[in-house]
Amino acid sequence: MPGLGLRVGADGNRIAELAGETDLAGFRSAARALIAARVAPERVTWTIAGSPTAGLFDIADFESRSAGPGSGSGSVEGNRPLGLGLGTAADSDIKPVGGTATPLLVPRRFVQLAESLVLHIDPARFALLYRLLWRLQHEPSLRDDAIDAQWLQADRMAHAVRRDQHKMTAFVRFRQIERGAGQAPLFVAWYEPDHHIVEATAPFFMRRFAQMHWSILTPRRSVSWDGLQLHLADGAARDDAPPPDAGEALWLTYYQNIFNPARLKLAMMRKEMPVRYWKNLPEATLISPLTAAAHQRSGTMVAQEPTQALRTIRRLPASNAAMTDADHADLPPPIPDRDAPPDQRAAALEQTRQAARGCTNCPLYQHATQTVFGAGQVDARLMFVGEQPGDHEDLRGEAFVGPAGQLFDKAMNELGIERSQAYVTNAVKHFKFELRGKRRIHKTPAQREAAACLDWLEREVALVRPQAIVALGATAARAVLGRTVAVTRERGTWQLRGDGTPVLVTLHPSALLRAPLEERGQGYADWLDDLRLAKTPPERR
Ligand code: URA
Repeated sequence: MPGLGLRVGADGNRIAELAGETDLAGFRSAARALIAARVAPERVTWTIAGSPTAGLFDIADFESRSAGPGSGSGSVEGNRPLGLGLGTAADSDIKPVGGTATPLLVPRRFVQLAESLVLHIDPARFALLYRLLWRLQHEPSLRDDAIDAQWLQADRMAHAVRRDQHKMTAFVRFRQIERGAGQAPLFVAWYEPDHHIVEATAPFFMRRFAQMHWSILTPRRSVSWDGLQLHLADGAARDDAPPPDAGEALWLTYYQNIFNPARLKLAMMRKEMPVRYWKNLPEATLISPLTAAAHQRSGTMVAQEPTQALRTIRRLPASNAAMTDADHADLPPPIPDRDAPPDQRAAALEQTRQAARGCTNCPLYQHATQTVFGAGQVDARLMFVGEQPGDHEDLRGEAFVGPAGQLFDKAMNELGIERSQAYVTNAVKHFKFELRGKRRIHKTPAQREAAACLDWLEREVALVRPQAIVALGATAARAVLGRTVAVTRERGTWQLRGDGTPVLVTLHPSALLRAPLEERGQGYADWLDDLRLAKTPPERR
């Protein structure tokens, strides 16, 4: 395969040589050729041209660290024609990899993952990427597998890269160098990223500091902006960056003044600004003295602050008896009698769903896309209650359709529980999040938000009257049982609600998705054991 950086080694295996540490284009071309030639991942060694570690990046290195479900190699015999393995180009979630030659069809998730993963410092990243690409051609089910060990490993690595990029945008500190008459000053920063992110992150600084001339020096790669173009160069040494300057003194004064002692959360601060970055942050020298004085300063601030009225939450009445005519337009109907026929309860449930669309009982409605109400059979035997809709659910308006929902569906399938015969809902009906850049990051709902939503959940329970409820996670368990629940202690046990409905407490699927990789397989198996109990619930009282 000449011209692709591919050659055959002495042992007959292939050596794929990439032009640089972040050569995604080279990876794409080589991977496409290797897949076309049906070269299995274990027969490829990935190297970087000129790298002292060239020749070491093979799949064996990765596999020794990530044995687990889904780490099998796939077989050449099981190969399918290229382009047919995972769907058709008409599938909007499928993207061709590579240029004009035989396109490989892969999920969008893979394409996005690859862009970050190639920037990871781990020499085995290309081997992992090729392994996933290979498996995607041979194992169609891999595409939606939420707990595959290699997907998870790759996700974790891509996440680390994105986090590193985010930290770089937050923690680069420039120092000014005067360059003499007629020349714009140069701003130089020293920074030590964990991964190969300099080139990929440079456009952020270009946009942000378009009018300045600047250089960011890092140990492996440096980048400069001359007002017109970005220039990449080799790595530098810390001493190449200038010492503190007057501008920095100004910044320190500013930092000292904006430091709000009442909002000091040291653990959160260390999480957001890990200590290892401190050595290159001038303001880090102020953190100790400022935090030491924080207690006293916040006491003074509290003494000065006017008290604010608590927001009052309009609670929905349990029946419509107490309502005025004006209220009726957007409020749910009365709950039919317990023995009302299913169609009457279904109509009331639908009206309740409509009423919930306009819910403003707490501030969460202001930023969420829509109310995500429960869905399922009005005479379902089982009701599953989660915490709150996530990003996907908020956009689609349906509960449990994102990654947590996929894991939930997988468990339901494995246990033979028909989701379509159950009723699936959440304790909180609006998505609570915080924005990080463009990403909406889930935030746990506050107790007052769950309390404001409780009427909707209680109406769902009263209308569906399930034989049993499964509470997924602490927020759901608290809402359903009306008390704080220690999920790790009470999981896998039946509790009784005041209305006589048995409640099975277990983990939320997101807890499994967040668990360390090595614990996930066992965690999932234990979760299935809990959920299995829902197949034979105790009688209602
Ligand atoms: N997590 C939940 O608790 N509910 C959803 O619907 C999705 C994620």
